[in-house]
Amino acid sequence: MPRLKPIEWTGTDVVIVDQTVLPGALRYETVETPEQMFDAIRRLKVRGAPLIGVSAAFGVYLGMKQLGVSAGGAEAVFRARQTADYLATSRPTAVNLFWALDRVKRRVAGMESVSGQQVTQAVLDEACAILKEDRAMCRAIGEHGFEELRRFDVLHTHCNAGGLATSDMGTALAPVYVGLERGKTFHVIVDETRPLLQGSRITAFELMQAGVPITLICDNMAASVMKRRKVDAVIVGADRIAANGDAANKIGTYGLALIARAHGVPFYVAAPSSTIDPSLCDGSLIPIEERSEDEVTCGMGRRTAPEGVVVHNPAFDVTPAELIAGIITERGFFRAPYDFSRV
Ligand code: MRU
Repeated sequence: MPRLKPIEWTGTDVVIVDQTVLPGALRYETVETPEQMFDAIRRLKVRGAPLIGVSAAFGVYLGMKQLGVSAGGAEAVFRARQTADYLATSRPTAVNLFWALDRVKRRVAGMESVSGQQVTQAVLDEACAILKEDRAMCRAIGEHGFEELRRFDVLHTHCNAGGLATSDMGTALAPVYVGLERGKTFHVIVDETRPLLQGSRITAFELMQAGVPITLICDNMAASVMKRRKVDAVIVGADRIAANGDAANKIGTYGLALIARAHGVPFYVAAPSSTIDPSLCDGSLIPIEERSEDEVTCGMGRRTAPEGVVVHNPAFDVTPAELIAGIITERGFFRAPYDFSRV
């Protein structure tokens, strides 16, 4: 079955898969305005660090489409910057969002003296380039990751760092897909990933679609499963990696890394270089998104906690570099002590 494209530029429209309704429904949506793109990112219709970046870049283009045909270059450059700054406030943790928006802003810098239409075209070209590069990045991570992981049979993953978190085969799941192409079938243990269930709703869905054998577990089963069953390695994605290798990813990742360390299971992170934030010396500086308490109290479609309960709902946590066996990027495999100067 062909892999779903979570975002597509059709030549006239930006079309996304609404990931909030997976796996029950496969709903495509045409996004027409930056406000709709902001909402899609904020509400996790499009999600996963690389995909957020790609989506935001197209969101800037949607803002440019609202300009009148007679708009001049200066007005268009202003609009591009303004829309990028607006979209940058949609989610705080995945640095790929800011990376992609900065690229768009750099692309139009100095274009004040050309026509507004030329600026709009430059924004669209940059968004399409980011999308295309994202596809190549996934493939390269898949190749490097497969080289490292091919000796293993059973992998454990958290959240969704697969095709639906990028524009192609994902990051953490890319080695699994490359393995399939080469005749190697991994068995993947997928944990649910409370509170929004990206593991059970999205990772389980896409791996089963691809014909990968999986076992779905609740998050709180990970320690027991690692103790009782064969788990060769854990592989997850990341939303932001600090200069020292500390990596932010979906809440629960840090706990899983501790469990892996306790059981002698290597723990890998797969992420593109656009996820590395060299401006932060360590993970304590990574901003962690706090999301609505409803996700915890009503996450199963009905109320599961008393009214008025105090809730803490951080969407991400930070795994310290010392728990990470290696970081797989499109430029190759990195081990501690990390030197990201070649990314
Ligand atoms: O809140 P989400 O669903 O956007 O969180 C996604 C993750 O934490 C992914 O593991 C991460 O973005 C890497 S995606 C290749």
